[in-house]
Amino acid sequence: MWTLWAMLICLAGGQLASATLCRTYGTIPGIPGLPGQPGSDGRDGENGPKGEQGPPGLGGAERGEKGDPGMPGAPGKVGPRGFPGPPGMPGLPGIPGPMGEPGDYKVTFKSAFSAARSISSYPRRDQPIRFDRVLTNENGHYENRYGRFTCRVPGTYYFTYHVTSRGNLCLNIKKGRGASRGDKVVTFCDFVHSSFQVTTGAVVLQMAMNESVWLEPTEKNSLVGLEGSDSIFSGFLIFPEA
Ligand SMILES: *[C@@H]1O[C@H](CO)[C@@H](O)[C@H](O)[C@H]1NC(C)=O
Repeated sequence: MWTLWAMLICLAGGQLASATLCRTYGTIPGIPGLPGQPGSDGRDGENGPKGEQGPPGLGGAERGEKGDPGMPGAPGKVGPRGFPGPPGMPGLPGIPGPMGEPGDYKVTFKSAFSAARSISSYPRRDQPIRFDRVLTNENGHYENRYGRFTCRVPGTYYFTYHVTSRGNLCLNIKKGRGASRGDKVVTFCDFVHSSFQVTTGAVVLQMAMNESVWLEPTEKNSLVGLEGSDSIFSGFLIFPEA
């Protein structure tokens, strides 16, 4: 038994075991050697199974209750203008217009008038004489507000006047356009000293569209227009322009 010990010491002790000790092989066993140094640590064992989940932590301060909602914000900017909408429905038809002028050729070439003066004052020098009371006015070519006949059917016309005078009277038959002073066509004069006298004059004129004809007194203007002693101005188309 001790032999075996020695042999083990010799083999395991290495340089520490002296040759003398080993040479005592087979003699009285010596005192048992000191215990060897502790061996190196063994390897770590495997991880154990996962533990159970712990209770939830309290964390920091606890949350309070939810607050009331805030005031609404200011309105946003106005958006861009939208596209134009589709066109609306057509409107209702209008009311019928007034009746048109008859298109008959018989009307187209009609033009005649006769008007009397019912104004008692003498007409003014170098102003158109107003024969205000219309007796005939075919197609309305005579304007009694101005005492002018205006041609709407170009052609050849006959104009005449039959006026009562109570003194000297000179009348111009004038022709012109628009509001112009016009041109003197003919002048007739009567110098009388008796009380009333009817004097007359006439002319045939070529009239163009929109030309007017009227009567004007000179400074000798004693023309009267009184009940029972009338003065009239007349005109009519003899034939229209070809
Ligand atoms: C005649 O007068 C009317 C309106 O007063 C005008 O419309 C027309 O053009 C005139 N015609 C001529 C030929 O001057």
